[in-house]
Amino acid sequence: MTKVVLAVVVCICMVGVISQHHAVGAADCQLVLTQMQPCRNYLKSGGSVPADCCKGVKTLNSAATTSAKKRQFCDCLKSEAKSLGVNSQYASSLPKKCSVNLRYPINYNFNCSSIQ
Ligand SMILES: *[C@@H]1O[C@H](CO)[C@@H](O)[C@H](O)[C@H]1NC(C)=O
Repeated sequence: MTKVVLAVVVCICMVGVISQHHAVGAADCQLVLTQMQPCRNYLKSGGSVPADCCKGVKTLNSAATTSAKKRQFCDCLKSEAKSLGVNSQYASSLPKKCSVNLRYPINYNFNCSSIQ
């Protein structure tokens, strides 16, 4: 009986640790989502790129200082692009439209782990 209780406690603790890890990633994804928020219309339907969108792209670009960050932002953008139904052509032309040399692509087919 105590063994069962112990196992349950261990399980709950492990879930706690795992979800904490997720929370860290989610916080950074939140930054990505907030910064990219003004870009949503453009990413879905094209047209002109709002200045706030370019500002967000620039912010994200300068925040991506390490490979780990770049991969993380890439993964966030990727999952956002998927859930929003982003048009990949609009997405890939965004950095150019904002005159930003983005350090990682906005592309939901891109393998973010291959970022150096
Ligand atoms: C993504 O890239 C990494 C590192 O280059 C590689 O190990 C992995 O197999 C790739 N994944 C896919 C799905 O191509």
